[in-house]
Amino acid sequence: MIVFGVFLVLVSAKACSFRRVKVKKNSNAENREKFEINNENHVLVILHVQKTGGTTFNRKLISGLEGDFCELPSDSIQDKRSNWHHSSCKHPGKNSTWLFSRYTLGWPCGVHPDWTTLKDCARRKLRALDGPSREGRKLFHVTTLRDPIDRFLSEWRHVQRGATWNRQHLLCNSRKNSVTPCYSTEKWTNVSLEEFMACPTNLAYNRQTRMIADLESIGCYNGFASHDMRVPNKALGRHLLESAKRNLENVDFFSILEYQKESQQLFEATFRLKFSDDWEYHKTKTELFKNEVELPRDVIDLIKRDNALDIEFYDFAKELFFKRLSEKRIPLPQE
Ligand SMILES: *[C@@H]1O[C@H](CO)[C@@H](O)[C@H](O)[C@H]1NC(C)=O
Ligand SMILES: *[C@@H]1O[C@H](CO)[C@@H](O)[C@H](O)[C@H]1NC(C)=O
Repeated sequence: MIVFGVFLVLVSAKACSFRRVKVKKNSNAENREKFEINNENHVLVILHVQKTGGTTFNRKLISGLEGDFCELPSDSIQDKRSNWHHSSCKHPGKNSTWLFSRYTLGWPCGVHPDWTTLKDCARRKLRALDGPSREGRKLFHVTTLRDPIDRFLSEWRHVQRGATWNRQHLLCNSRKNSVTPCYSTEKWTNVSLEEFMACPTNLAYNRQTRMIADLESIGCYNGFASHDMRVPNKALGRHLLESAKRNLENVDFFSILEYQKESQQLFEATFRLKFSDDWEYHKTKTELFKNEVELPRDVIDLIKRDNALDIEFYDFAKELFFKRLSEKRIPLPQE
């Protein structure tokens, strides 16, 4: 099924070509309290959607900010992946953490907690960690987004290499959930794209929308008929999208993998912090793969059809991102 060529790049670029999506005029972003790293009530919470550049973002926050706001473990060699764990990011002069993330706290809410899981869990974990005294504790959510077709292919390749996320909690209404599994083996190593796509309960489908939406509002995972993550039910799809869009508007910052430079500028302008190095766009493994391998058009069309929520969500996210850039007088990317 695999033919060589560069055709796919074009198809994918077109798939996500810019569409006008309305963004509400009065997003309450302006009037909201701003994150202050010196305020011990303020905590930045990373909502890390798989395969969107969240690991790199987590590392940049730990070691890339001017002002040394974090400590890496003493034996750490910065570019070695494993040694980033147990990094410590404390409010200056205080003993409380300002960064709720994988590398600073481990995965206290299970791996890759989504919005619904964090809502149930993050505050509770922070209270256990830093004490109950800070009743006025404020959580500021930040997340990373990516072109949904690239993200889906990237997740497939990652799972193919042996990745699993079995330790995810999928908390909803304070209960752990699971969905009908796609495979009975321990891992899904070497899974073909056809097999990966043939599983309707694959959480890779519409992952960005689902992870940013409030799932309590649809009755948690039972809200997905037969746990079908492609969400063929239009009414459910609309509801999930609206919820994800509202939540994204309330996220204090999000980056877009395709716009690294602008993401950095937006972060710096939003939180009045500076990074010592420029965020650079590196060719992703998925891009390299796409340059080598041409996926048939019908396969791409199916991926698009079954990730329709994420495609619309990403269009909305880009529009909101550009709006936030304009508000901060950051030049828009040249498309
Ligand atoms: C600081 O916090 C850590 C846990 O994060 C705790 O083990 C330690 O006792 C605290 N130190 C002080 C001085 O409060
Ligand atoms: C996956 O494929 C590689 C290369 O064909 C092979 O060496 C390996 O044993 C396979 N692994 C599993 C778990 O099937």
